[in-house]
Amino acid sequence: MKEQLQALQTEALEKVTQASSRKELQDVRVAYLGKKGPITEVLRGMGKLSKEERPVIGELANTVRGAIAEAINHKQAVIEAAELEKQLAAETIDVTLPGRPVPTGGAHLLTTIVEEIEDLFIGMGFEVKEGPEVETDYFNFEALNLPKEHPARDMQDSFYITEEILMRTHTSPVQARTMTAIKDKRPVKMICPGKVYRRDTDDATHSHQFTQIEGLLVDKNVRMSDLKGVLDHFAKQMFGEDREIRLRPSFFPFTEPSVEMDISCKVCNGKGCSVCKKTGWIEILGAGMVHPRVLEMAGYDPTEYSGFAFGMGPERIAMLKYGVDDIRHFYTNDIRFLKQYHKQ
Ligand code: PHE
Repeated sequence: MKEQLQALQTEALEKVTQASSRKELQDVRVAYLGKKGPITEVLRGMGKLSKEERPVIGELANTVRGAIAEAINHKQAVIEAAELEKQLAAETIDVTLPGRPVPTGGAHLLTTIVEEIEDLFIGMGFEVKEGPEVETDYFNFEALNLPKEHPARDMQDSFYITEEILMRTHTSPVQARTMTAIKDKRPVKMICPGKVYRRDTDDATHSHQFTQIEGLLVDKNVRMSDLKGVLDHFAKQMFGEDREIRLRPSFFPFTEPSVEMDISCKVCNGKGCSVCKKTGWIEILGAGMVHPRVLEMAGYDPTEYSGFAFGMGPERIAMLKYGVDDIRHFYTNDIRFLKQYHKQ
C-alpha cells in the first residue's frame, strides 16, 4: 500500500506539471483528490490493515494528499499569473500617443461681432433688449412717426403678412416697445440686436434679411454731444484708437436732427481708396435725437425728457473690420469661410 500511495503521488505530480490550463488542473484535482479518487479509495480500505500499519498508512495518505494539493495550488497560481500577464499585454495602450483632434464648432462671425458690440455697450451701462421679428405696423412705423401713406415708408420696402402685420424692417420698433412698456417713465439705456427683413434683391451689399443693433438712451438733458461721445467711443473700441468719426446731416422720421455716422477709412487712413470710394470715409450707422413725437407716443413728456437713438448693421461692421467682400457670405455658411473666424 505504501508503494501504491507513493506511485500515486508521483503520477499526480507528473499530471500537475503537464497541466497547462485551469481546466486541466481542475481535472487533476477531481481525479486524485475527489471523493471517488484513488486516495479516498486507499483510506477506505484501511479497515483491512493491522493495528500497527493503520496509523502509518493513514499518515502517509494524508502526506500524499497534502503534497498533491499543494502542487495543484502552486500550479494554479502560476497559471493565473500567466493568464493575467497575457491579458495585460493584450490590453496595453500607449498613453504617450498623441490623441486624435476632436473637431469642435465655433461661433459664427456675426455672433462674435454682435457679442463684441453688446459687451462694449454693456460696459457703458446699456441693457440688452429683444423684440419680435414679426411686428405690427404700429410699432414698425406708426409709433416711429411714420403714419400710413408717409412717403418715407418707401425707404424700407417691407414684407407684409397682413395689412397690419409685417416682418420688421429695422430694430427701431424695439425703441417704441421698450419706452411704452416702462410704466413709471424712468430713464432708458438699452441696445437691441436682432434680425430685420427687407424686400431687397440680394447682391454683394444687399440682403433680404440682415442684422441690426438698435441703441436708445432717454433721460433728462440728453444732448447731441452725448450721442457723439458714445459713438466716438464705440468706433474707437471697435476699429482702433486712431479712427475718427464724422456726423453728416441726414433724415429719419423718428429722429430730429438725424445724422449718418462715417468712420475714417482704415485701408487708406482717410486719403481715399477703392474701399471708401475715394472719400476717405465709410458710413456705418444712422442716428439722431429721438423725435419728440416718438417720445410722446410712448408716454414720455418731451419737455422733460430727451434722448438719442442709433441703428447699425453688424454685417457691415464685420465686413469693414475683417475685409469680407460679400454680405451673402454671412448666410450661405460655407464652412471654409466661417472657420477663418473661429477663435482659437
Ligand atoms: N432704423 C434706421 C434704419 O434702419 C436706423 C436708425 C436707427 C436711425 C435709430 C436713427 C436712429 O435705417
